[in-house]
Amino acid sequence: MHKHSGPNSSQTDYAQNKQSTSCAGGRDRLIKTDILIIGSGISGLSLALKAAQHFNVIIITKNDAMESNTRYAQGGIASVMAQIDNFESHIRDTMEAGAEINDLKSVEKVVRSGPRLINELLKIGVRFARTRQNIFDLGMEGGHSQRRVLHASDVTGLEVEKKLLLKAKKNPKISILEYHAAIDLIMKRHLKRRQGADRCYGAYALDKKTGRVVTIKAGATVLATGGAGKTYLYTSNPDIASGDGIAMACRAGCRIANLEFVQFHPTCLYDPRAKSFLLSEALRGEGGKLRLVNGKRFMQHYHYRNELAPRDIVARAIDYELKKSGERYVTLDMTHHSRAFLKKRFPTIYKTCLDFGYDLAARPVPVVPAAHYFCGGVKIDLSGRTNINNLYAVGEVTCSGLHGANRLASNSLLESLAFADFVYRDLIKKQQHIKASNNQNVNPWDTGRATDSDELVGITQNWDEIRRMMWNYVGIVRSNKRLLRARARIKIFSDEIREFYWNFTLTPNLLELRNVCQVADLTIRCALKRKESVGLHYNIDYPKPDLNSMKYNIIR
Ligand code: SIN
Repeated sequence: MHKHSGPNSSQTDYAQNKQSTSCAGGRDRLIKTDILIIGSGISGLSLALKAAQHFNVIIITKNDAMESNTRYAQGGIASVMAQIDNFESHIRDTMEAGAEINDLKSVEKVVRSGPRLINELLKIGVRFARTRQNIFDLGMEGGHSQRRVLHASDVTGLEVEKKLLLKAKKNPKISILEYHAAIDLIMKRHLKRRQGADRCYGAYALDKKTGRVVTIKAGATVLATGGAGKTYLYTSNPDIASGDGIAMACRAGCRIANLEFVQFHPTCLYDPRAKSFLLSEALRGEGGKLRLVNGKRFMQHYHYRNELAPRDIVARAIDYELKKSGERYVTLDMTHHSRAFLKKRFPTIYKTCLDFGYDLAARPVPVVPAAHYFCGGVKIDLSGRTNINNLYAVGEVTCSGLHGANRLASNSLLESLAFADFVYRDLIKKQQHIKASNNQNVNPWDTGRATDSDELVGITQNWDEIRRMMWNYVGIVRSNKRLLRARARIKIFSDEIREFYWNFTLTPNLLELRNVCQVADLTIRCALKRKESVGLHYNIDYPKPDLNSMKYNIIR
């Protein structure tokens, strides 16, 4: 859907290098590139670095380039690195966590790529923690039968993001446009002459600093936009996680799958000031115990792995215990470790807790689950291709089949590295086609008769209502009644937001709200379609798994 298209924006084709991406004189800009990557987390950056060996690459990112979900990843990257570990074990753990409805081919391809991709990170200077004997200090997390999580103390994502970004910024073939928020993908309907097969021709983006819209024509476009935690009232994700890629892909005609599988991280700090600060699963990997407020442990009643059961089971157990006891939180007890150990192994978590007045070494800290990760998203194949030509997707924005009904801890950064690599290999095969594919005459963006809104309170209201509704009606435990209520309400929000979108000047806040609303709608539709309880989707009206669980619950 093109908001407004018309002839009154001046447009210029700019050459394909770093200098050409800014435009003097305040005109709306038109940029051409071989590869457009939307998002600057691990997926986008690692793909850009590879693709730049053969192509010109533009990355657009809606904030400072460092600001991505990647940077907040604490736990680490799962990969088979230890002598005693093997691929079969990692594959089995991934399948078990995913309730066996993962796509085995995807699981195998990703897991077996792990060590090679970790070596690539080491080559660009990423430093993972090592023991005194100089072997990797591998962490343990829920659902894993081996220690296999590479980490950089408790700031693994930050370490990876920093090193990738540094490399990308130095690369002359990569341009990074910060504070550019993608609005929509450019499709055939946006061309001046609508002929030929439908495919993706790039994207329109809002330059947040000038308020102008940039038209970016690309031979191939890659969604690397991350997840949609902001759909929920409580989330471990940063504010940027508004499901932009899923929503844009859906509007462009992509198949979307398995959005009912929203992973709630069991342990976020319970404190209104902390904005759901994550207490990494690695804490439980180091023996952390979950306790009720009265001090009693409870995980032994739910799974043989106790606190290290897969996340869906731990989060649901906490939810159940909280509903039973009427308390507002359970606690995570790390007091069996010395202060020195906690400070060394978990420096950021230790300090953040202390800043909020919780001493990890002295007493158990209050924790609650919060929305953490979307296992579903844009359906891709084993090369990261969507069902739209020239459009790829990588990372949390996707449904790649790796996670099945529940993602195994620390498999997400691995998935991003792996699918960035698979996309890269496909791009090389299509090199000639891609280089010849960004010459279409695209309609520039036209703001039409849009005016500044006189009342922004409606936008704030919609944000609050959608997120609270998703938390209450489409949360850890669902029912048909709650899902149907959610469906009725999301229709009202969608209509109101559509009106805002068409009548008023685009703002970054409105763009994100529109996307969050669309992802919420898709999540509700997926949840209603799955008539069973499996993995992360638990519906009290269908409490058992289906004998033939759908591997892909596809919405179009
Ligand atoms: C964590 O550190 O607990 C989060 C890691 C993940 O989501 O896999």
